[in-house]
Amino acid sequence: MLSHCYLLLFLSVAQLPSPSSALPFEQKGFWDFAMDSMDSGGLMAMMRDEVEGSGPDEIPSTDIPMCPFGCHCRLRVVQCSDLGLTEVPKNLPPDTKFLDLQNNQITELKENDFKGLTNLYGLSLRNNLISRVHPKTFVPLKNMQKLYFSKNLLVSIPKNLPASLVEMRIHENRIRKVAAGTFAGLHNMNCIEMGANPIQNSGFEPGAFKGLKLNYLRISESRLTGVPKDLPESLNELHLDQNQIQAIELEDLSRYKNLIRLGLGYNHIRNIENGSLSYLPMLRELHLDNNRLTRVPTGLPDMKYLQVVYLHSNNISQVGVNDFCPRGFGMKRTFYNGISLFANPVNYWEVQPATFRCVSDRLAIQFGNYKK
Ligand SMILES: *[C@@H]1O[C@H](CO)[C@@H](O)[C@H](O)[C@H]1NC(C)=O
Ligand SMILES: *[C@@H]1O[C@H](CO)[C@@H](O)[C@H](O)[C@H]1NC(C)=O
Repeated sequence: MLSHCYLLLFLSVAQLPSPSSALPFEQKGFWDFAMDSMDSGGLMAMMRDEVEGSGPDEIPSTDIPMCPFGCHCRLRVVQCSDLGLTEVPKNLPPDTKFLDLQNNQITELKENDFKGLTNLYGLSLRNNLISRVHPKTFVPLKNMQKLYFSKNLLVSIPKNLPASLVEMRIHENRIRKVAAGTFAGLHNMNCIEMGANPIQNSGFEPGAFKGLKLNYLRISESRLTGVPKDLPESLNELHLDQNQIQAIELEDLSRYKNLIRLGLGYNHIRNIENGSLSYLPMLRELHLDNNRLTRVPTGLPDMKYLQVVYLHSNNISQVGVNDFCPRGFGMKRTFYNGISLFANPVNYWEVQPATFRCVSDRLAIQFGNYKK
């Protein structure tokens, strides 16, 4: 499934403005770096001539932005991935829109590492060894919308993230705690991927997510034992797969009325309290596969828009004729187009065909034989 975050990433790359695209990149020599922000093509040509004809003492070297050694700079995209860098390179062009530092060995972000990069829109630090971030590192990045920080060694979410931020991926770090106010002021944030961190429910301080109007949140592959209570109400998509959630209690989902997709697969859920799902009137997709459910959760027939329900690999031994579909006609607005029930101890020949009367197509039901 293409997640919302990925979709945003796609769009953002496609929309990355490239005002200098009229000037194709030509590597003519050492001094031929992209410099359209200085609006000085003539000056550059002049300098190039001078460089070729005269000594290095005439080169005004220090305040000229240049492409850091080993990196590729083109159309305001500065590409410094896979270079074995141990720190953020100096001399980043101030008009940089996207800075790619992934797959390096950077251990720390210092106060002035991104100084002057007020135009930066996207920053990828994915797959480094970063454990320390100076609290003012991100302050200059007043227009940054995308921050990719997955696969590092962070123990907390960096402080003072820019208010412009829309998307943050901080998957696979060592985050155990999200302090109250971590996201304060981030009114534009839409999407956070923070799975594969060793965080427990107690790791979220009350108010940790306060102020966020998120659309997408993923906290999969973590150590949650219940649905966190304090997440943003605005969520359309919540992925809590691969945790240790034991049960869904009545109030657990009451806050998340806007959910369209809910992922709870690969947990230890034995029971979903009656009525829990009634808080999710908009839900279209529910993943409960690979849990320990002994029956189909109650409330599915009342979910008007529910189309996909994964229940495979549970301990469901009976499926009742009214477990999925409402008794009357016309209550369900969309028919199911995916129900998975395989790998449950239920004999499929004992399930009445009418059970699936509100399914668009027989092929939409994945049953299969139960294998011990
Ligand atoms: C929950 O609902 C099921 C099916 O409608 C019913 O059999 C069961 O008694 C209910 N449990 C409680 C605690 O209300
Ligand atoms: C499956 O459910 C039955 C009761 O219906 C229970 O006796 C059994 O222990 C359960 N198996 C697992 C693996 O949870």
